[in-house]
Amino acid sequence: MSENADPVVLALESSCDETAAAVVRGTHVVSSVVSTQIEVHRQFGGVVPELASRHHLGAVSAVTEQAIARADMSLADIDALAVTEGPGLSGALLVAVQMGRGLAFATGKPLYGVHHMEGHLWSAFLGDADLDATPFAPHVALLVSGGHTELVEVRAHGHYRVLGATRDDAAGEAYDKVAKLLGLGYPGGPIIDALAAEGDPAAHAFPRAMMKQPGFEFSFAGLKTAVLVHVEKHGPPDSRKALADVCASFQAAVSEVLVVKAARAIERTGLRRLNIVGGVAANSGLRAAAQARGDRDGFSVRVPPLRYCGDNAAMIGAAAAARVAAGLDPSVDVYTNLPIDDPRVVFA
Ligand code: KG4
Ligand code: ZN
Repeated sequence: MSENADPVVLALESSCDETAAAVVRGTHVVSSVVSTQIEVHRQFGGVVPELASRHHLGAVSAVTEQAIARADMSLADIDALAVTEGPGLSGALLVAVQMGRGLAFATGKPLYGVHHMEGHLWSAFLGDADLDATPFAPHVALLVSGGHTELVEVRAHGHYRVLGATRDDAAGEAYDKVAKLLGLGYPGGPIIDALAAEGDPAAHAFPRAMMKQPGFEFSFAGLKTAVLVHVEKHGPPDSRKALADVCASFQAAVSEVLVVKAARAIERTGLRRLNIVGGVAANSGLRAAAQARGDRDGFSVRVPPLRYCGDNAAMIGAAAAARVAAGLDPSVDVYTNLPIDDPRVVFA
């Protein structure tokens, strides 16, 4: 199978609050099913790990069956199985890992464990019936999700070098926390994004932490506190316009820091392509700011369509397909945290 350039992979993902399964052929998505638990966790204002595990267990079989059925395939057509092995919530991860092991046991197919953020990296290359797959190209990746914010140099398949990461909150986490303190719902990112479109990004001068420091580290805890202090001092925004102004000013601060550091990474590495991936890649302010900077500085910016920004199994399948094509041996582990440039993840 190692000679197979475009292996057919059945992939499963259950690291956080989405239960997902997909069938891919290389980077081409044949089917992708995502069952979200957002409604389960919304009333708690965040993901409750114990509930996440239980709901994954309830959904994983049906989601897997649907992915195979929608691909119009049977297990016999699959070359390899893949599963997210971490980072994530341990009880949640175990659900898809055990399902993958069961399928591997029953079918004799190899099972590949995939690092969740490696999956997000591959989301930028996915194609489907409505979208052409993009051939792999060396790039700087800005990984922005609920749990991670980092810049990664990706020179080749399997070459992952972290240039810098957040020292405290991830960008998505900052969105979720600020939404909570403003009394908005969960997850906060899409809600703040929509409100920001109606507001003035220059209304409030929120801090741009670490922007002037050299290097590629981020910090968003101070920005969240600045919004909190603003609300304590002036009271909660008392009109939709006032609320939109806070959201737009917060979003401008997050986007500016991310884009300035990403552009610095482009300059430092000499790479001419920026891929923005992860849940926060859906953010319209970030997309616009990155595109404007790319146009100005002469680098290209690629962001996956919304359906592949959030957690999904197609990206896990594509990452596993690259491992199969590279002739790597199957192996699966479970870890709640592990850097993407750990020797267990890189393969170039
Ligand atoms: O990648 P993802 O689905 O899950 C993790 O691996 O964490 O990312 C989820 C995060 C949440 O924090 C959510 O608020 C954020 O992505 N998010 C957004 C937007 N859509 C989702 N943040 C900003 N703007 C958005 N439009
Ligand atoms: Zn994710």
